[in-house]
Amino acid sequence: MPWFPRKISELDRAQNVLMYGAELDADHPGFKDPVYRKRREQFSQIAKNYKHGQPIPKVQYTPEEIKTWGTVFRELHKLYVKHACKEYLENWPQLVKYCGYREDNVPQLQDVNVFLKRKTGFQLRPVAGYLSPRDFLSGLAFRVFHCTQYIRHASDPFYTPEPDCCHELLGHMPLLANPSFAQFSQELGLASLGASDDDVDKLATLYFFTVEFGLCKQDGEMKVYGAGLLSSVAELRHAIESKDKVKRFDPDLTWKQECIITAFQIAYWYTDSFEEAKEKMRKFAEQIQRPFGIRYNPYTQSVEVLSNAQKITDLVSELRGDLCIVNSALKKISARDSTLDVAGIANYLQTGIETKIINGNERSSDNQEKENV
Ligand SMILES: [Fe+2]
Repeated sequence: MPWFPRKISELDRAQNVLMYGAELDADHPGFKDPVYRKRREQFSQIAKNYKHGQPIPKVQYTPEEIKTWGTVFRELHKLYVKHACKEYLENWPQLVKYCGYREDNVPQLQDVNVFLKRKTGFQLRPVAGYLSPRDFLSGLAFRVFHCTQYIRHASDPFYTPEPDCCHELLGHMPLLANPSFAQFSQELGLASLGASDDDVDKLATLYFFTVEFGLCKQDGEMKVYGAGLLSSVAELRHAIESKDKVKRFDPDLTWKQECIITAFQIAYWYTDSFEEAKEKMRKFAEQIQRPFGIRYNPYTQSVEVLSNAQKITDLVSELRGDLCIVNSALKKISARDSTLDVAGIANYLQTGIETKIINGNERSSDNQEKENV
């Protein structure tokens, strides 16, 4: 089984940068610019020296960098009101207020980091370039988002062959501040821990067509939540206009779709909600071959490998505590709000739990464990 981090601090060991970083490819717009390349080395050093728990060093962006940011910001902002999903738009004013989202200011990762921690528990970690899919997904399992800090080359503000801070800050951050989306991202990450290379590739493709290029239907209209689209003026328009290329998200089909890096996608995938995406991903994740279950413990910021009956018994005991809280709150609310569908909620909870237990028993081959559970 491939190694995977068990504690959030072990992400320090999961930093395999595959592309870009300090070195640029010959077709990169900044390849022949020695000043830009020197600057990229500085960003690369920040990421390489970074260790979990440290504040992210703040960067003094140059006037040229701020100008590039402003150009991208201005053009994209015009499109958001019409095309971004409602969860994105809900968080935008707070990013302006707390993180300095403005045309003449590149927000600092550390400020966004503090904001996200407060909203959804997500944290940022600076990264030098294009991280391996396994390491990137491992980060999500701990609610850590690897985030580039450099900006694209000034010669072409509307093109970048790699993620940069325009993509991260404008595309990803508003949605990472949404609890449902944050949970979806984390569950993708948890499914990848200890998975085979094949399964990690499938999950990376599903990440690509949801978190990067996903759409959702809201009030009868197709809206965008994918960061790759929300940070590309041209492809955002293309995706919205190409109705024949938009299909309903189905993990069993979507993972087979080719991911295109340097041109527009051939297909885009939509759901009605993040909840739908989550439910479908959960079903898909059950197919992943791992001899154990995994659960994130937010108190210790570590993953617990559920490999024996005792661990599952401990988990059930914790869940019972949570269900008592739900039960007590429902009773209090229903006493003063007769419109609340208490029976419906109770039924929803019970059905979910029973389904999980039945599925678990069907798969378990150890009778002793079944009895203990
Ligand atoms: Fe991205």
